[in-house]
Amino acid sequence: MKIEHSHIMLTGASGGIGRAIATQLAQAGARLTLVGRSEDVLQSLKASLEHSQQHQILVADITSPLGIAAINEYAKRAIVERVRINAVINSAGCNEFALLNSKSPQQIEQEISLNLLAPIMVCQTLIGSLSQPGVILNIGSTFGSIGYPGYTSYCAAKAGLHRFSESLDRELSGSGIRVLYLAPRATDTALNSSAVTQMNQKLGNATDSPQCVAQHVQTMLEKEISAKWIGWPEKLFARVNQILPGVVSSAINKQKETIHQYVNRISP
Ligand SMILES: NC(=O)c1ccc[n+]([C@@H]2O[C@H](COP(=O)([O-])OP(=O)(O)OC[C@H]3O[C@@H](n4cnc5c(N)ncnc54)[C@H](OP(=O)(O)O)[C@@H]3O)[C@@H](O)[C@H]2O)c1
Repeated sequence: MKIEHSHIMLTGASGGIGRAIATQLAQAGARLTLVGRSEDVLQSLKASLEHSQQHQILVADITSPLGIAAINEYAKRAIVERVRINAVINSAGCNEFALLNSKSPQQIEQEISLNLLAPIMVCQTLIGSLSQPGVILNIGSTFGSIGYPGYTSYCAAKAGLHRFSESLDRELSGSGIRVLYLAPRATDTALNSSAVTQMNQKLGNATDSPQCVAQHVQTMLEKEISAKWIGWPEKLFARVNQILPGVVSSAINKQKETIHQYVNRISP
């Protein structure tokens, strides 16, 4: 797709990766609708962007029926005003690095709700208002391809998001709408507690900048790449885990002692 003059809706706009995507796409000439729960935060993000007057904000908790209704209203208004939405990027997400038996049912529900159910509902609500050609880009995670201790429900949600993206892309084949899936590895944002950052350092796991992820987002949109995994060796492990999961299990078992040093730690 051509980004200049396109109209792109972005959930999770106020997050570490979301802000970098917003900044990158605004510089490339897109008109953005920034979605999040805090009006003040979204307003100041909008003001910080290039061509700030051409962007809009939409306050919505996308895990609630009211939030999805707000997206629906927006979509209906877009049709009435003959404004076509060219792309939707689902970047809102959350996780808690904790063992399953330490998580409350509410935490588990929130992870599944925001990382899986919400993007599905956003896609369903917006499909009718998307231009054809149009693009949906769902932000997943390396953990959508590799089950990792301490991230059980997050891995489940992101794996679901990957399959959802693949099946919707196939369902819409021939309609002009593409559904893409991007799997970042660890990225330097507030999503990761200091315990997670320390663990990644100890394990020698690389961490990308949000700007690096935003670059990949722009390339994926422009080239309409179906799916992409950021980083090496994460990309390789994602593949190996599909065909030889035992190899990945042994590698992760060697990390178990370190993982248990950091899991369940409450952030300061
Ligand atoms: N950071 C990483 O290491 C990493 C690695 C792989 C994949 N990812 C994925 O990348 C995406 C972005 O992550 P990030 O690092 O930017 O996270 P982040 O900095 O924690 O930002 C999370 C975003 O989600 C939004 N959000 C949270 N709950 C919401 C709700 N109920 N309704 C609407 N929006 C809500 C937040 O907005 P408000 O709180 O302002 O509403 C915020 O914009 C996520 O899908 C994440 O799973 C991240």
